[in-house]
Amino acid sequence: MRYENVIFDLDGVLVSTDEYHYQAWKKIADEEGIYFDRAINNRLRGVSRMASLEIILERAEKNYTQAEKEELAQRKNRYYQELLGNLTIEDTLKGVRETLAGLRKNAVHIAVGSSSKNTMRILTQVGLENAFDAIADGTEITHSKPDPEVFLLAAQKLGAKPENCLVVEDAPAGVQAGVNAGMQVAGIGEAAKVSQAAYALQEIRDLLNIAV
Ligand code: G6P
Ligand code: MG
Repeated sequence: MRYENVIFDLDGVLVSTDEYHYQAWKKIADEEGIYFDRAINNRLRGVSRMASLEIILERAEKNYTQAEKEELAQRKNRYYQELLGNLTIEDTLKGVRETLAGLRKNAVHIAVGSSSKNTMRILTQVGLENAFDAIADGTEITHSKPDPEVFLLAAQKLGAKPENCLVVEDAPAGVQAGVNAGMQVAGIGEAAKVSQAAYALQEIRDLLNIAV
């Protein structure tokens, strides 16, 4: 099957920012005395900052006001952005650059669809800011994954019909978002095990056998 358009998730698919998200949330949880571990962190993949905070607060002993929640989310983002300062071209995940180049060479249109409000900053820092035909991110949407909004926006920016788009995702919430958008999904990492993903990728380069 050839796809005219491929829409990539960002965190965990193109760039290894996952560990930074974990460290920033862990610092918040420790400061607040809330239990947090990597299993809980896995539930935050693909989920917006505020929705992630709500998942973390499930383990909190006190109730937080809306203003307190906003302060926590801002503080987390400050810690996260401090860590993003370390991000270099080396943090692009293995095989990404040659996969993007291979798709381009075969006239496949490529886009980013991410819930992150830090998308442009991350892409710029790893030198991928001009690598895509379209970018849809967390600054432009009201509903984060598993809602299809960000992928539908990416398709719209590409001028593509959803059924002609293949989504690449590492998170269960992201696979669900792609399916909800009426797109086929290729899962990588943890998402390769999600049954709704039409394709399971061992590595990102496998896309060149699917989409081209
Ligand atoms: C991505 C990550 C999530 C993160 C979300 C919001 O989807 O997988 O873990 O919570 O973006 O990121 P932001 O940079 O806006 O806090
Ligand atoms: Mg992801």
